[in-house]
Amino acid sequence: MIIRKAELLITAVKKAQYPETTVPEIAFAGKSNVGKSSMINALVNRKSLARTSSQPGKTQTINFYNVNDELNLVDLPGYGYAKVSKSEKDKWGSMIDTYLSSRDQIREVFLLVDIRHEPNQNDIQMYSWIKGCGYTGYVIAAKSDKLSRSQQIKSVELIRKTLDIKDKSLIIPFSSSSKAGVEEVWNLFESIIKTEEV
Ligand code: GTP
Ligand code: MG
Repeated sequence: MIIRKAELLITAVKKAQYPETTVPEIAFAGKSNVGKSSMINALVNRKSLARTSSQPGKTQTINFYNVNDELNLVDLPGYGYAKVSKSEKDKWGSMIDTYLSSRDQIREVFLLVDIRHEPNQNDIQMYSWIKGCGYTGYVIAAKSDKLSRSQQIKSVELIRKTLDIKDKSLIIPFSSSSKAGVEEVWNLFESIIKTEEV
C-alpha cells in the first residue's frame, strides 16, 4: 500500500464520538505495551503519529487513524496494566465491548502478543472474545526483532498451542523496529478490505 495520507481522525471513549465514516476498519487489541501504537506508526511509516511509551497504559482511548481515505486503523487501549483500579478495568471492558459490538464496518480485529512470551489468561480471553465476534483470529507476534529466526519459530509454535490455533499462517511475526512483516501485513489488509462483507 502506498501511503498518501495518514491522520488521526479522533480519540473516542464513547460511541457518539466514533467517526462518521463507512470505510472498512481493522482494529488492534492486546496487552498494554505490546506495541499496538508502534505497529500503526510502522505501517503508515510515520514515527509518532500514534503516541507510544515505554510505560504501559499509554493508549487509554479508542484512536481512529484514517489511511488514504480507504480504511481506518483502530488502536484499542491495552489490557493487563497492573496499576489500574477495578472501575477503570470495567470502563475498559465496556469501551471495547461497545466498539466491537456496534461498529459494522470492522473487518478484522488483530490480537497482538509479545513474541517472547507465552500468551497469558488475558490474551486467551481476548482471543476468544475476538473469535466469538466472528473474526478470523489473526495474531501479530510483536517485537520479533528481539528473537532470532529459530527462536521465532519456536515462539510461534508456543503461541499457536496456547491460543489453540489450527492454522499457523494466522500468526505473523512483526517488528516495528526492523519493519519485518510490514509488507506481509499490508498485503493481508488489502485482501481483507477487498473482500466483500458477508
Ligand atoms: P498501550 O498504549 O499501553 O496499550 O501500549 P502499546 O501496545 O500501544 O505499546 P507501544 O506501541 O506504546 O510500545 C510500547 C513499548 O514497546 C515502547 O517502548 C516501544 O518503543 C516498544 N516497542 C514497540 N514495538 C516494538 C518492536 O517491534 N520492537 C521493539 N524492540 N520494541 C518495540
Ligand atoms: Mg498504545
